[in-house]
Amino acid sequence: MDMKKLAAILAEAGQSHVLQFWDQLSPEEQAEMSLDLESMNFMEINTFFKNAMKTSGQSSKEKVDSRMEPVPREVLGSVTRDHESLKEWEEEGLRCISENKVAVLLLAGGQGTRLGVPYPKGMYDVGLPSHKTLFQIQAERIRRLEQLVERQYSRKCCIPWYIMTSGRTMDMTKEFFSRHKYFGLKEDNVLFFQQGMLPAVDINGKIILEGKGKLSMAPDGNGGLYRALATQNIVKDMEKRGISYIHVYCVDNILVKVADPAFVGFCSLKGADCGAKVVEKNNPTEAVGVVCKVDGRYQVVEYSEITLTTAEKRSSDGRLMFNAGNIANHFFTLAFLKEIVSTHEPHLQHHVAQKKIPYVNTQGQLIKPDKPNGIKMEKFVFDIFQFAKTFVVYEVLREDEFSPLKNADSQDGKDNPTTARHALMSLHHRWILNAGGHFVDENGTPIPAIPRHGPAGTVTPEVSQNLKDGTDLPIKCEISPLVSYGGEGLENLVTGRAFLPTLVINESGVHELVKNGL
Ligand code: UTP
Repeated sequence: MDMKKLAAILAEAGQSHVLQFWDQLSPEEQAEMSLDLESMNFMEINTFFKNAMKTSGQSSKEKVDSRMEPVPREVLGSVTRDHESLKEWEEEGLRCISENKVAVLLLAGGQGTRLGVPYPKGMYDVGLPSHKTLFQIQAERIRRLEQLVERQYSRKCCIPWYIMTSGRTMDMTKEFFSRHKYFGLKEDNVLFFQQGMLPAVDINGKIILEGKGKLSMAPDGNGGLYRALATQNIVKDMEKRGISYIHVYCVDNILVKVADPAFVGFCSLKGADCGAKVVEKNNPTEAVGVVCKVDGRYQVVEYSEITLTTAEKRSSDGRLMFNAGNIANHFFTLAFLKEIVSTHEPHLQHHVAQKKIPYVNTQGQLIKPDKPNGIKMEKFVFDIFQFAKTFVVYEVLREDEFSPLKNADSQDGKDNPTTARHALMSLHHRWILNAGGHFVDENGTPIPAIPRHGPAGTVTPEVSQNLKDGTDLPIKCEISPLVSYGGEGLENLVTGRAFLPTLVINESGVHELVKNGL
């Protein structure tokens, strides 16, 4: 496209300022910038901005409060409250997997700005004894689950793994998987696709420049999934493979039960087209979105959208009334996703996230603002709950299934590499105890069975001191997902045995790694 035409399009959209440094760019920079600009639809971006601002302005606290209803018991399955049904759900899920009907879809297009590493979050090593990354842990869980199903059903099965990346994460993610030979999975069954990107804008909708010839671009939120499913032909690929059910999850949850058979089985037996896995919100002020009904339709209501009075409401059993904490872990049927992609996706509104966005000022200097100066427009993966015909909620224990990696260790004591590492080792410690093993110290004295760690996702002052002293609590214990998916199959290895931490159980056996040793 020639420059005049491009300038006219930008002028019509009120975005001419993006060319303010055009004459200062080298011919290569000009070529690169015009390529970027040509690929964008500025009128559409302006419309996204207008609609997003309209909806974000509308959300007044009282409105949502008075329209909210909690999840009814009949659509809820709970690993604690419905313990007697768990086996049946799990068997159903395993059966679906054995028929190659289940796929997993990983949301890994985020920028991970809070963690602050220059590579995709899935490549992060939280410091486990094995130094496995989040990607490797998830890949090995898939492999183990396939093996369990193959053994039970005496036939080959496959759980395809769709990995959504973005312009920011695609190349590094693909290269990482290729370098690690897909962690033992078949290359054909690991499928990468890319979500869209949108420019960041200021509060008037003007596109922000992060360089003289570069727009500030960001992925369009994890709900960018639905547009990408169509543009990248993922739905077609799923159809071709005969997939019926899709488990969607986030890259940063170190405890995620990928393709969780009990969750899949529960949703399938309930005839659900859409399901959300949740953890109980224990504290009224916890900043977590809750799954609930608003005007009779399911959605996630953010903590900031409700008053404290509503957040503090309790049911007759003493639990918080709005306690279904969303952990971005979902079940969809392929039929439902197809309908979303073909009918509803274009009407989903972007949400407004106010952010500190580095920008070049009129002198061409890069400024890093210390307070929010602009807006990123994002869709959310849960925006489609409202379209479900049969929606179900599946409640699991936080300590067993949810520990997200959001922040760097240096920032604060929540959802960081330390809490993620502790959560995994503490779970594996419990698996050892459940399978009849226990831990002793170097004098042979049994170590108390209850690990000393703070409430889920936090580091207590005690743990923090121990970290400074180099004493890393809780008990160091790691079980390879290739040995156990969810605590099964450990009896032969641990029953009646006492172990010295650090304990590592992997495909080559049981290893007690002594200090300064292995
Ligand atoms: P978060 O909202 O926590 O964002 O993503 P993030 O990118 O990981 O971290 P910050 O906010 O920049 O610090 C939750 C999940 O959604 C995915 C992330 O990769 C993560 O698995 N995600 C987020 C996407 O896939 N695309 C996006 O555009 C945003």
